[in-house]
Amino acid sequence: MPLDIIVGTQWGDEGKGRVVDMLSARADYVARFNGGDNAGHTVTVGTQTFKLHLTPSGIIHPNTIGILGNGVVIYPETLLAEITMLRNYGVTVDPTRLRISHAAHLITPGHRALDRAQETARGKDQIGTTGRGIGPAYTDKTARRGIRMEEMLDESDFHRRMVAHIEEVNQTLARLYEVEPLDPSPIADQYADYAEKLRDYIGDTSALVWEALRRGQSVLAEGAQGTLLDLDHGTYPFVTSSSPLATGVMGGLGIGVGHVGRVIGVTKAFQSRVGAGPFPTEVQGDTAVRLRGTGANPWDEFGTTTGRPRRVGWLDGVLLRYAVRINGLTELVVTKLDVLSGLPEVRVCVAYRANGREYSDLPLGPADLSPFEPVYEDMPGWDADLTGVRSWGDLPAAAQNYLARISELSGVPVCQVSVGPEREQVVDV
Ligand code: IMP
Repeated sequence: MPLDIIVGTQWGDEGKGRVVDMLSARADYVARFNGGDNAGHTVTVGTQTFKLHLTPSGIIHPNTIGILGNGVVIYPETLLAEITMLRNYGVTVDPTRLRISHAAHLITPGHRALDRAQETARGKDQIGTTGRGIGPAYTDKTARRGIRMEEMLDESDFHRRMVAHIEEVNQTLARLYEVEPLDPSPIADQYADYAEKLRDYIGDTSALVWEALRRGQSVLAEGAQGTLLDLDHGTYPFVTSSSPLATGVMGGLGIGVGHVGRVIGVTKAFQSRVGAGPFPTEVQGDTAVRLRGTGANPWDEFGTTTGRPRRVGWLDGVLLRYAVRINGLTELVVTKLDVLSGLPEVRVCVAYRANGREYSDLPLGPADLSPFEPVYEDMPGWDADLTGVRSWGDLPAAAQNYLARISELSGVPVCQVSVGPEREQVVDV
């Protein structure tokens, strides 16, 4: 079995967690390859709703081993809290079921303090980060001064490394941002304690994945965030600091390209975004409330990590086609189709217009979308409640047409559709 990849085609929050949950039932390994606890994956199993930020959500299946690859940045407090939470729900999490790459980088309270200070300093140009220290941790990684998980294995030196790191952060906090310094010693003590707890989980996950694939086992790569938040290919600078793309899997897990099988793009039936940045198909007013929900349900459009109401809008076919190209998607899973029930018309953006010209593809990537106005196609809506539908034939014709149009616009088949948060609320196409 090859390496299958699941990525988000939008700005994150496409409902990847549930798709990973579905596919990991048959996978031997489920691996996170990018990001950190800025992600939020909600998985509903029966009456239990899990909100996971860092732990691969596939670990909920008893036969699946979770991996945090080298491309991930790890805030140990979050990881240990999730391990405890999962154990409380009866999920076994131990070093045989969760493996952490020795080359993954640590997030520290210093990174979180820097994230906050940098956002404040940006003033009206804030990115709207999750405040989890993601940017500063990846900055340290690329500046070659980050702290890798393997350093936790060196008991004699780790404490000193942490103190030196916090002292260095303090210089920046004080001189550049005029922010109170952090006390290095208790942080280093705390991290020494984390090292004790996490030591047995750390290993060479690149080799683990390679050996699994050679044995014919299946590996599922679970993307966090989404295509349009990619550091290089997203709506820069309103992006995250890692690569959530399918190509990020190779670097973020340390595995060659030859193993890749399916590359599945998860796309919501509409579009959402948290934080600042361009969003050509954004809607306001009643339609926005209609798409977002009120927050009464765990699946309404409020950030899993920050609780912020998400900006919402119509599906953007131009950006979807871009996501297909940049990831090499083989297929799409469309989520939350049920949310569109009851709308008299469903809009989909089929092209952009600027200076009297129409563009069906982006002329210069998605960083600056300000010149463009969406060209919409209005499709008939449907009234039927879809949450009980389990087969293609039972979908209203208008919903079938909408899905067919998504497939046509994106250029790849829609293989599955979700119509509610429960595991079984899916329709195979
Ligand atoms: P950071 O990743 O915390 O640095 O945030 C950078 C941008 O990415 C902000 O706009 C965040 O709201 C957004 N972001 C980061 N992670 C996620 C996610 O998992 N879902 C949706 N948006 C995210």
